[in-house]
Amino acid sequence: MPIADIFEKTEFSRNDIIQLLSVNGDDEKLLFKFAAKTKTESIGNTVYLRGLIELSNICSKDCMYCGIRKSNQDIKRYSLDVVEVLKAVQFAYDNKYGSIAIQSGEITSAAFVDKINTIILRSKEISNGEIGITLSCGEQSEETYRTWFESGAHRYLLRIESSTEELYYKIHPKDDTHNFQTRLNALKTLKKIGYQVGTGVMVGLPFQTIEHLADDLLFMKEFDVDMCGMGPYIEHKNTPLYQFKDSLMPLKDRFSLTMKMIAILRIMMKDINIVAATALQAIDKIGREKAIQVGANILMPNITPGKFRDSYALYENKPCTDENAEDCKSCIDVRVHLVNHKVGYSEWGDSLHFQKPI
Ligand code: 5AD
Ligand code: FES
Repeated sequence: MPIADIFEKTEFSRNDIIQLLSVNGDDEKLLFKFAAKTKTESIGNTVYLRGLIELSNICSKDCMYCGIRKSNQDIKRYSLDVVEVLKAVQFAYDNKYGSIAIQSGEITSAAFVDKINTIILRSKEISNGEIGITLSCGEQSEETYRTWFESGAHRYLLRIESSTEELYYKIHPKDDTHNFQTRLNALKTLKKIGYQVGTGVMVGLPFQTIEHLADDLLFMKEFDVDMCGMGPYIEHKNTPLYQFKDSLMPLKDRFSLTMKMIAILRIMMKDINIVAATALQAIDKIGREKAIQVGANILMPNITPGKFRDSYALYENKPCTDENAEDCKSCIDVRVHLVNHKVGYSEWGDSLHFQKPI
């Protein structure tokens, strides 16, 4: 079927998505153009910022792709203290970032739960209640999610990594701490509590097929996510999946496949928030801007204090690790304008999808 005919449909079938994920050349350009048009018409050309604070690279998990996995002995572990975090929050507030995102390796101790809670409460205090708070701190108990929500966090990112259970267990150890169903339930719990919920997957994983990716997009639609973050998988040498590096598609193909995932998702879910993932920039210097052009509307500039950035290496070649927040700030506005968008300063930029009455 000509892809222009697929665009006419109100719902994409699995086969439609597979066809769209396989396009290249002129059809790929057509896809990107249609996604861009869909975005402009439904949510406009404003990009919202979430100042990203990488709280700690201490992680109790052992995901087989991830550079900060528990078994990697070859990194220096760190944890920012509350004062350092609040400094970064103040920076975000002063520079009108609108929101912050706190990301951390997965820790479930009472001390950690308390620390995040303190950060949420104090962040609200120092910003007169104005700063929006996104959390990305992994799987936690319902009680913990509730506590953080009640303290003022209102968005949560938890990537499903792959919505196909079989693939999930090829990229995670098959044990109690890496349970597919638990992860799915965590997403459901977050939704029930009232968070705006974001999920996502890595693109170009070993063993992953176009069919898996089509199912991932259908999963997001079916789960009715408010936000999504998808990025290319980038191999890390201190991880078990590194042994499959020769079977991976070339980086530039992982990049363009991620672009297609973003574009198709934008067409499928017109008013959700889609992140232009940092991992895109590890492959292409203007990767995030390209993602904005094909459907993404959220940027997460790293505002972690510079000296710690090197250590939060989920994958190799992570960009901006030697910059400080000041440098990033001056470059964001220019970059966003380069692709004819504007930055929504001091705005939360919540997912319109979430706000819509059902
Ligand atoms: N390449 C790309 N993304 C990765 N992540 C973890 N390891 C890698 C990697 N090697 C992503 C996961 C996780 C997010 C915080 O970072 O999807 O959810
Ligand atoms: Fe699970 Fe890092 S160890 S994402």
